[in-house]
Amino acid sequence: MIQLYWKNATGDVVGPEHGISPSDMASAMKKVAVAHEAVVEQWDAGELGYAKLPARRDYRDEVTQLAGRYRGKVTDLVVLGIGGSASGNIALQTALNPVTYNLLSDAKRPGPRLFVLDNADPTLIGDTLAMLGRRLKKTLFNVISKSGGTAETAAIFMVVREMLRKRLGEKFADNIVATTDPEGGILHDIAEADGYATLTVPGDVGGRFSVLSPVGLFSAAMCGIDIDALLAGAARMAEKLKSTPPAKNPACVLAAVKYLMYAQKGKPIHVMMPYSNRLAGLADWYKQLWAESLGKETDRGGQKVFVGPTPAKALGATDQHSQIQLYREGPNDKLIVFLEVEKHSREVRIPDVFGDVEKLAYLRKVKISKLLNVEKQATEYALAQSRRPSVTIRFEAVTPESVGEFIFLYEFTTSLAGEMLNINAYNQPAVELGKKATFALLGRDESDPMAGEIRKFAETDTEYLV
Ligand code: PA5
Repeated sequence: MIQLYWKNATGDVVGPEHGISPSDMASAMKKVAVAHEAVVEQWDAGELGYAKLPARRDYRDEVTQLAGRYRGKVTDLVVLGIGGSASGNIALQTALNPVTYNLLSDAKRPGPRLFVLDNADPTLIGDTLAMLGRRLKKTLFNVISKSGGTAETAAIFMVVREMLRKRLGEKFADNIVATTDPEGGILHDIAEADGYATLTVPGDVGGRFSVLSPVGLFSAAMCGIDIDALLAGAARMAEKLKSTPPAKNPACVLAAVKYLMYAQKGKPIHVMMPYSNRLAGLADWYKQLWAESLGKETDRGGQKVFVGPTPAKALGATDQHSQIQLYREGPNDKLIVFLEVEKHSREVRIPDVFGDVEKLAYLRKVKISKLLNVEKQATEYALAQSRRPSVTIRFEAVTPESVGEFIFLYEFTTSLAGEMLNINAYNQPAVELGKKATFALLGRDESDPMAGEIRKFAETDTEYLV
């Protein structure tokens, strides 16, 4: 189970200038109640694509069946995708499998090794493919692209397909699973022509909201993650967020706190700081969800608004030694969202050693989990002393259920925040220009004048070269 604790964002703790007063909260709750009603209406009308995912047995069955066909037969699984077609896969694997997963022996690993090629970086691609060596025969490639036309994914896929074709001959298609829009697109057409197994990216679910669809579920199921429990956790949270009145509804309270911090308290930067390496991938997933959904130039009426909180990530306790100096003494422009784990999936106790070293006595026989959680409390306290607001999302434990809850909580909070800012949280028009410019520079469309413009722009002006 997860819970939200927000006292340290109130004026009582960090003072009236930086903290939320009861009247601030009361007015934000009125706004969030309207947003909640609107989002629930969209949900009931079947317009909230991601909200249907926890209950989609067909997707769950499609994934389980295909994973059943490959599990035990493949040694390595390589996901090819970018943005929303990769970040959820990494987040689930990081949260729910050991950090040493890929290094475990076959007997100890509950599935194939997992690699995610989420960048068109020649060393990432080259090193990973070279490492596979003879295991290529037993490697499954899951290419994920909703549009099918994303340059980075298409490029990596072309490299992989050609390598497989050369090394495995006619049967190369057996080593590829394509996850894409079943209605059409480049990848859909190639999959059909080559004869790959396919999985669905639902048409009404955007990439960054797709982790609970076959996009995120297949690699998770292949690597032994209990996707039923993951979906059950998400479904439980979905039910709670839909039916609980705003004042007791964690998504409404989180959206209200974040909105107030952004719009009234001068805190445009929202830092997620998990005190758990396992939750670090979810913080990266949150960064994409929050940035692409809420960073918008125009509101729904077409007015220029240029809104959007800036998401950032820090890892506790590591970044106490890197970021906290800035967070405490730099500009007071951040809301910190701590993620705290009550019961970690493994325990390590510090031994009773160095009895003669007085200055280390406080650490003797202490559990490492206690050290980590105490450090979180200490940082929370130190921030509050500097009038820096924070909230905490508490995980009883990091389990498939609680991760499912967290994912749905944040997706729903994003929808509420989108309503409160009066923007479309589900498109990403600004990403499209970069994609088009890449196509133009690589000559996808010979008649496109954009390439000439960009080359002129990109020419090095030596006056500025030092
Ligand atoms: O959230 C999004 O929509 C994006 O981040 C996409 O997931 C990303 O651009 C990849 O797109 P596609 O799945 O079409 O290759």
